[in-house]
Amino acid sequence: MAKIQQINPRTILDSRGNPTIEVDIFLTDGESGTASAPSGASTGKSEAHELRDLDKNHFHGKGVNKAIANIQNEIAPSLIGMNADDQQAIDECLISLDGTQNKSRLGANSILAISLANAIANAKSKKTSLFKLISHNENYSLPVPMLNIINGGKHAKNSTDIQEFMIIPAGFDTFFDALKSGSEIFHHLSKLLSEQKLNTSVGDEGGFAPSLSSNEQALELILQAIELASYQPGQQVFIGIDSAASEIYDNQSFKYNFDNENKILSSENLIQLYKKWVQNYPLISIEDGIEEDSWDDWNKLNSQIGENCQLVGDDLFTTNPNRIERGIREKSANSVLIKPNQIGTLTETLNAIKIAKSVNWGTVISHRSGETESSFIADLAVATNAGQIKSGAPSRGERTAKYNQLIRIEQQLGQKAIFSGTTIFEKFIK
Ligand code: PGA
Ligand code: ZN
Repeated sequence: MAKIQQINPRTILDSRGNPTIEVDIFLTDGESGTASAPSGASTGKSEAHELRDLDKNHFHGKGVNKAIANIQNEIAPSLIGMNADDQQAIDECLISLDGTQNKSRLGANSILAISLANAIANAKSKKTSLFKLISHNENYSLPVPMLNIINGGKHAKNSTDIQEFMIIPAGFDTFFDALKSGSEIFHHLSKLLSEQKLNTSVGDEGGFAPSLSSNEQALELILQAIELASYQPGQQVFIGIDSAASEIYDNQSFKYNFDNENKILSSENLIQLYKKWVQNYPLISIEDGIEEDSWDDWNKLNSQIGENCQLVGDDLFTTNPNRIERGIREKSANSVLIKPNQIGTLTETLNAIKIAKSVNWGTVISHRSGETESSFIADLAVATNAGQIKSGAPSRGERTAKYNQLIRIEQQLGQKAIFSGTTIFEKFIK
């Protein structure tokens, strides 16, 4: 049985050029695993804590030396000698060593990098693929990609108020064909924007960030790009949005500011707007349509359009089992976004997925806007039969790292590869 022998943490840069933690774990059998922590920009209030140095003279306060010192001084001495194969025991040790509710003492960034690096090292030690190691059965499905091709909100200044406009190529037989359509549509959108003298530079998640007159213009442009690429909207390719509503919510007036459109909407106005979009566009998924503390409004949204549209909680649930369970009890949504660094360990991430699946909720495995070259979430999506993955546009290396890993896994599985496709959206397809 391979045991943890040595742990080497370091600072690397994420896709925004900010520092983040990377960790190597070496095992007694000579194998090793390397993993890193991503970082969000539109973070939920209930997320596990990302420990930063806050020293203004060092990486603008974003340094991770404290988190690295925690690994060297506390985490490594406790984990060295533990069986790499006992992921749950390792994660439980990390949780109890930290001792806080939100991992604020040792930092969720250091804890996550350790947890994931151990899984990677263990897979190598067992001479198996990461997705096979994480999975507990032999049924693997490839997730439908949700490709964020227009970036707004906090990920691209001067673009749309809505943070993400995604295409969802579900109506294909293979992951590869779905991704191919995504790439073709992305490039048609680029041409369309150029023709209309709109900006084609990209935002944090690789999607275009044009200055548009309205959110509806983004929906129209995407519809046109799908058609120009000769795909059928509403049959092969669908649309999803992430409103990241907490970012545009004013908690004094209890209203939502759509600054680019010069509009202020109440939650009721907003729900009516979503209703209209679901009717008029092949829109089958809305993430964070309501801000993170308005549980009653989430319930209203779900009761009004939850039958016709996937409603994904990101900031609302923060991959936190307690919040997901509350959402299930209060009928707040019908799907959950899964971001491992929101909760901090692999074991807790798998538990969050299990809880959502037990009530047939949708599960979307997600990257962060600040990413690394890691493709861990691709394996996680296959291992858990999550059905959906969101990793940004089909552009920029840190985004394509995840999609390319899914191409490899699909090829490795050969005949056994099943693409989740439209089956997971059956309820929502008109
Ligand atoms: P973040 O955004 O990674 O910047 O928090 C992603 C999202 O809201 O889904
Ligand atoms: Zn989100």
